[in-house]
Amino acid sequence: MRKRGDRIAVIGAGKIGETLIRALIESGMASTSRMIATARSRERLDFLKRDLGIRVSRKNSEAVAGSDIILICVKPQVLAEVLEDIRDSLTPGKVVISVVASVSTASIETALGQKIPVIRTMPNTPCLLRTGMTGICGGRYAKEEHLALAERIFRSIGLCVRLEERHMDAVTGLSASGPAFVYIIIESLAEGGVKVGLPREVATQLAAQTVLGAARMVLDTREHPAKLKDSVTTPAGCTMDGILELEEGGLRVTLIKAVVRATERARELAND
Ligand SMILES: NC(=O)c1ccc[n+]([C@@H]2O[C@H](COP(=O)([O-])OP(=O)(O)OC[C@H]3O[C@@H](n4cnc5c(N)ncnc54)[C@H](OP(=O)(O)O)[C@@H]3O)[C@@H](O)[C@H]2O)c1
Repeated sequence: MRKRGDRIAVIGAGKIGETLIRALIESGMASTSRMIATARSRERLDFLKRDLGIRVSRKNSEAVAGSDIILICVKPQVLAEVLEDIRDSLTPGKVVISVVASVSTASIETALGQKIPVIRTMPNTPCLLRTGMTGICGGRYAKEEHLALAERIFRSIGLCVRLEERHMDAVTGLSASGPAFVYIIIESLAEGGVKVGLPREVATQLAAQTVLGAARMVLDTREHPAKLKDSVTTPAGCTMDGILELEEGGLRVTLIKAVVRATERARELAND
């Protein structure tokens, strides 16, 4: 954290909020006694208290008043009401980190009505297994120390990159929507395996581990994917025949268009 003893409030501790709490505790970045979580239902609060051993509250404003770092993890539909609820409890020295999709730092700053550092983040669902990808950017009042803090938090659940805010919709279109695109690729590879006689369960395992391994090769070797592809493609071999089918089917163009379209939709949603 920025300094030892920073207190953290997780406002709306659902799936992503709980993941962040667990990662912060298990990585030693925060202690249970310095964390408080809020949720709407009593059942959820009881679960968080029992399972994570942290303090819980139904009152967002109280949780914010007693904390230094405010992680906002609610759904976009309730964000306005939550910001209204906490604005008077935000005092200088506190920092707001939002995971809410498609909501700009400027609109959060406006809703809060004060010069508070705001960091906007866009994680993806693999964050739930700590293999996530998060893009982050800072608002008008965010300084290096606030971005560095958010980076440390999101590195506990995967990789994290800093970007200018104008790129956040592209992060949504690529890494946040991307898992869905890759599930379709895995499913389709497995279908191919089934077509050539593999049991479905085995085919799915082969496909998923192949995607995981190929991704690791790209990340760990830092080689261009095209070079790694070339190293698998022996002249007149079977991989080349497979690639020919992919090119004929327009896989590249289809994936490029999928990212472009998802980015455009993220932009539309931000303006809704
Ligand atoms: N899940 C992801 O991987 C992911 C990825 C990227 C971005 N996000 C963003 O993260 C946010 C949360 O997503 P999620 O999947 O974690 O949703 P979620 O599981 O539904 O969590 C939302 C939580 O907010 C609580 N809540 C609702 N109204 C509240 C209020 N007025 N005050 C305090 N807490 C309130 C809910 O409490 P109850 O449980 O009691 O209803 C719930 O625990 C969204 O904005 C989404 O865009 C999530």
